[in-house]
Amino acid sequence: MNRVVDLRSDTVTRPTAAMRRAMAEAEVGDDVFGDDPTVQALQEETARILGKEAALYVPSGTMGNEVAIAAQTERGDEVICEATAHVFLYEGGGPALLSGVQIYPLAGERGLFTCAAMRGAVRAPDSHHPITRLLCLENTHNRAGGRVLPFAAVQELTSDARRLGLRTHLDGARLWNAALASGKPESEWAALFDTVSVCFSKGLGAPVGSAVAGTREWIARAHHYRKRFGGGMRQAGIIAAGALHALRHHRARLTEDHARARKLAEGLSALPGLQVNPADVDTNIVVVGVTRESPARWRDFVAERGVRVVPFGSDAFRLVTHLDVDDAGIACALAAFREASKELAGR
Ligand SMILES: Cc1ncc(COP(=O)(O)O)c(C=O)c1O
Repeated sequence: MNRVVDLRSDTVTRPTAAMRRAMAEAEVGDDVFGDDPTVQALQEETARILGKEAALYVPSGTMGNEVAIAAQTERGDEVICEATAHVFLYEGGGPALLSGVQIYPLAGERGLFTCAAMRGAVRAPDSHHPITRLLCLENTHNRAGGRVLPFAAVQELTSDARRLGLRTHLDGARLWNAALASGKPESEWAALFDTVSVCFSKGLGAPVGSAVAGTREWIARAHHYRKRFGGGMRQAGIIAAGALHALRHHRARLTEDHARARKLAEGLSALPGLQVNPADVDTNIVVVGVTRESPARWRDFVAERGVRVVPFGSDAFRLVTHLDVDDAGIACALAAFREASKELAGR
């Protein structure tokens, strides 16, 4: 059988044999009653790594962000985030639907705006205005090609936000990658925010689940919203065991994904019809601009050779490295793109 190299997302991984064993052997209970020891162990370990008082296991990264927003806002409030943030673009209007808040999508550069821009977006007290309540940042930043936000800039933004009376949330779906690439542990990043969401089902390779962490008080509120949003799960230890295994065994290896993403970008940068700067690849995401043909044409061409990528906007596609992509997979992907370049960019 021909191999398939699936670079569409780091969510496509299949649980390893050891992970499946941990899941099969997990001790479980009814987590809605607070009885599941595996879920509790996962929550405790996540809180410890993030340096927060408490953490809550949730079914998805989206739910992690949405319960954090709900916990920290009132209806009619405004939430500032960067204009290409996941919470704004890809959560189905969840903040409006679930929390009754509006998003202020502030234009940034590669996933981040300046303090001056944020200050300009914060509303003055006036009965005509919504109340600016929450600053939400994303790290690594998906649309910015897995960029690690500069730590000093995030520090300045969050302390400025606090001075202005705002609360803060970090969409840290790939905070594990940011921590390794920046050399700053997750807890240092998390310390800058009131609440942080993290995903186990992306680069770490667990089949299901995310968490949100913060003070005991924020997490108690988030817990209430998890139930209201239908995220209370019963013998969730089965899936939490996969997440716990991923957390313990797959965090350090993310550097391999980063090196492979860089290698992919280097190979692709030499090909006519494609545009990518390998120096922009901080972690496991590579966004490649196309200068000939449409992203869909490139996707279809390489798909016929067993390489899967996704169009990313009208003039680019995205490749993501992960647990199920090895060096041979990278070589195979580059070979498919070399052929595509000859055919589609005609040299
Ligand atoms: C930055 C970011 N935040 C949140 C999410 C949502 O995660 P989920 O797909 O588990 O809801 C994603 C998913 O790709 C993401 O990239």
